[in-house]
Amino acid sequence: MPKYQAKTTYVCSECGADSPRWEGRCSRCGTWNSLREFSQRASRPGSSTVPTFSRPPVELASVSNTAEARIPLSSPEFSRVLGGGVVPGSLILLGGEPGIGKSTLLLQAAADLSTSNANVLYVSGEESEQQIKMRASRLGIKGRNLFVHAANDLDAALRYMEETSPFLAIVDSIQTVILSDSGSSPGSLGQIREATWRLMEWSKTSGVPVMISGHVTKEGSIAGPRMLEHMVDVVLYLEGDVYSPYRLLRGEKNRFGSTNEVGIFEMTEGGLTDVPDPSRALLSERRPGGIGSVIVPVMEGSRPLLVEIQALTNMTPFNLPRRTANGIDLSRLLLITAVLSKRMGARLSNQDVLVNVVGGLRIREPAADLAVALAILSSFKDRPVRDGLIALGEVGLGGEVRSAPHLSRRLQEAAQFGLDTGIIPSSTPKELVALPGMTLIKVSSLSEAMSAALESRGS
Ligand code: TYD
Ligand code: MG
Repeated sequence: MPKYQAKTTYVCSECGADSPRWEGRCSRCGTWNSLREFSQRASRPGSSTVPTFSRPPVELASVSNTAEARIPLSSPEFSRVLGGGVVPGSLILLGGEPGIGKSTLLLQAAADLSTSNANVLYVSGEESEQQIKMRASRLGIKGRNLFVHAANDLDAALRYMEETSPFLAIVDSIQTVILSDSGSSPGSLGQIREATWRLMEWSKTSGVPVMISGHVTKEGSIAGPRMLEHMVDVVLYLEGDVYSPYRLLRGEKNRFGSTNEVGIFEMTEGGLTDVPDPSRALLSERRPGGIGSVIVPVMEGSRPLLVEIQALTNMTPFNLPRRTANGIDLSRLLLITAVLSKRMGARLSNQDVLVNVVGGLRIREPAADLAVALAILSSFKDRPVRDGLIALGEVGLGGEVRSAPHLSRRLQEAAQFGLDTGIIPSSTPKELVALPGMTLIKVSSLSEAMSAALESRGS
């Protein structure tokens, strides 16, 4: 009888659920064809694939209530998303599309935390020492006390980590490191998972924080990072349009703090720099009173951000009009155009409709519906949007304007920028205090919103 047996399970690449057999559809998240084979050596002596922390149970009442120690980074935006800083012994996953800036952010964090009495180890399975040096020079990083291990052998990296006990360890990326004694092949899901477990085990036992990066495709569907989310302590995603300078660092999971935080950066010649006043940056190139442009204060994490939504409608020579959504969900745009056609009599069936969120931001909340609808109507009717206006509210299928959360915070942000007219849902509670210098127009339908928002043509 063999000492240990290879155990084969199937793991969903979308949600990480395990299944003892292959199934066409994941029983947890319902995704089709997402199950991948994952072979794991069970009970191999000396190397457990699952970290075991053998400590006797403690009574909760006797556990002290002290906050986790945190190591702040010099970037307030990065620290904010981490909930104040890096917690010792935590495993942090930084996901994002290739080219979005993960390596840049990690190298900057590495330089930030390497000091005369704190070494940082940066393991790169993607770039050579020279390539890392070139990037570092661009970022103005000298690299004292910053050690680079440009290899993809994770066993060796773990040995260095054990010997040198750095202050922080970084593995860039988890998809490119190899565990020679793992049961599965390099780059496979099994390897990625096992590599993460090993790093988790090491960070927990050594108390050293570890940051790992993981590539995600545009659809966010690639197996790696999504499958690791439930294993790691903190999940951050770096998002944005590679052709726009702005990047959002979004906390998706944080065992040590709020996940409701977003950090905003700008990719510059010298790397990722904090954007302390994002609304100002995002509106800096806006032409007031334009056609097809509406400002909406969206909530990114716990703070409001003023973003400009632009729309363009254009007669199409083709039978099938196009709908292009940049920064909002296409399904949301289809819903809004359908409502505009049916409830507002806007003949969009022979019009291409393009919507763009300026700055490469992605808006997820329905509270931006009204701004999208008004931007489309403004372009379609060729009527300018009233100056200094913001619009907020979800659009229902009946053409009704529905409530939006966090209204006062959003309006405050708008007022700070001198925007003086707020079109808001009529269901807004009376207690909502009017802000000095801001007129609030409550609307219950799209047609009311249109009358309030659009100037007459040529005025
Ligand atoms: P990178 O960090 O390599 O992305 P990832 O690790 O997510 O794949 O970032 C790559 C892009 O960032 C690349 O197109 C060049 C750009 N960049 C800058 O604009 N400024 C800089 O200082 C650096 C280092 C990169
Ligand atoms: Mg990289």
